Amino acid sequence: MEKKWWHNKVAYQIYPKSFYDTNGDGIGDINGVIEKLDYFKELGIDILWLSPIYCSPLADQGYDISDYYNIDPRFGTLEDLDRLIAEGKKRNIGIVMDLVVNHCSDEHEWFKKACADPDGEYGKFFYIENHKDGEPLPCNWRSYFGGSVWEKLPGHDDKVYLHVFHKKQPDLNWENPKLRKEIYKMINWWLDRGIAGFRIDAIINIKKKLPFSDYPADRDDGMTSMNNMLAEASGIGEFLDEMATETFRKYQAFSVGEVFNEKDEELPLFIGNDGYFSTMFDFSAELIEEEMTPDLYKNAIFKAHERVEGIGFLSNIIENHDEPRGVSRFIPKDALSDATKKMLAAIYFLLPGIPFIYQGQEIGMENLDSVNDLNELDDCANADIYENAIHEGLSKEQALQLLAEKSRDNARTPFQWSDGANAGFTTGKPWLMINPKYTDINFASQKDDPNSVWHFYKDLIALRKNPEYESTFVYGKFIPFLKRQHNLIAYNRVGDKHIMVLANFQKDAQTISLPSKIKKVLLTNVSKTPDNFSSTSTEIVLSPYELLVVEMV
Ligand code: NOJ
Ligand code: CA
Repeated sequence: MEKKWWHNKVAYQIYPKSFYDTNGDGIGDINGVIEKLDYFKELGIDILWLSPIYCSPLADQGYDISDYYNIDPRFGTLEDLDRLIAEGKKRNIGIVMDLVVNHCSDEHEWFKKACADPDGEYGKFFYIENHKDGEPLPCNWRSYFGGSVWEKLPGHDDKVYLHVFHKKQPDLNWENPKLRKEIYKMINWWLDRGIAGFRIDAIINIKKKLPFSDYPADRDDGMTSMNNMLAEASGIGEFLDEMATETFRKYQAFSVGEVFNEKDEELPLFIGNDGYFSTMFDFSAELIEEEMTPDLYKNAIFKAHERVEGIGFLSNIIENHDEPRGVSRFIPKDALSDATKKMLAAIYFLLPGIPFIYQGQEIGMENLDSVNDLNELDDCANADIYENAIHEGLSKEQALQLLAEKSRDNARTPFQWSDGANAGFTTGKPWLMINPKYTDINFASQKDDPNSVWHFYKDLIALRKNPEYESTFVYGKFIPFLKRQHNLIAYNRVGDKHIMVLANFQKDAQTISLPSKIKKVLLTNVSKTPDNFSSTSTEIVLSPYELLVVEMV
């Protein structure tokens, strides 16, 4: 595998609106990120991905962009961003922006012009179809946030436009070369400004199966999930290859795709040596629909990594701004503790690929325990979850409880900096509720405690970057260990060194036989251990929920 500058990096996702507010308006801002750059330096972060901060009506929290060339005043200014880029560079921290180009906002000038003249140049930037009341819509696809993907075109009773997400997010027509050219120009404008690259939003949606047609209904609303169409759409590679050639490849930019549903044979095209993207997220565990178990989790992530071995790098996560908190999802409720949070951290962090930390994960932030009222929350996707739950027969209380487990707002409550007012996030009124757990879970109480979750993340990053082990963690082979052993998540990383990650994901002790003797304990979640592990045999007993990262003889 050809070596790339970003192979050994550790990345962190910031959700700017909820990160740190410096002017008391209750909304996190770019200056807040600048103020915390030394926080990232201390932790050991190399790449910061910022969820969108472009001008936006924030109908989908910035994933609905009304001006690609400017910063929303609530987050700051272009000058603030330039300062962030420059200050980041001083600390060897690269800034990665979110690239949202499957759709824009209905308040973008392109869409306004399309409404003014649907048959004109900008009408062709979107998918606009004729439609008369009472007639069937062009197709029965259900938008990701619920309801039809078709909406009346403002000012035109006889026309509808396509939006696979919110109705304020009209889809851009990638079949139109003029649109594509505009997008590439914009991407290069940002790369010229000095950013390190992009996280590419919802990219799999840019290719539609045309002409529009129905699929069998999968709910009694008569509509069908977008996945049915995506499974049949082919030819996305031409768009992605063109985009990479016109933009990322020229700059050696770092690009991480939000990619789903790719076929095995497409993997080298997506993330191989000269792929469309540097890397893509591994969503295999996030996509599990059954009730989570350690074995399901293990099988998903192991399979994902075995699949890309020798081809390219996945980006590893346990959560992001679209998911509930990872510790609440992957660890059984009765086992949730600092020790299990550390165990989960080490399991995913030391896999091959690029580890991403989502803001707050490093202090062990958890989901909300309960939601009293839909109005306590904000996300535009909540209504569909709630209404569907009621439709399926759940009570109001049960539907709200479901939101406490599933809502994207779990990840979007403000960062818990301290146990002070508003968790130290703002001096004003926070735009979204603070998770009441902030009095127990906050950065201030962890920063000086060497046994805290925060310190564990810092140790984990330091271990991954330790010159003695770095090449093994970055380029070493990934070899699952005792894959079929129930509730054991264990693997080898084999390069210059032989490292093993061993996690006993259950409440009882578990005995295992190792392939050789342990030379040195590199990290545990039990307590700080002496450097040398005096094991005389290769058989070891892992205590309940014990994690061991060890160098083997
Ligand atoms: C994926 C983003 O991560 C999510 O937050 C957003 O709602 C959709 N794409 C639409 O842009
Ligand atoms: Ca602010």
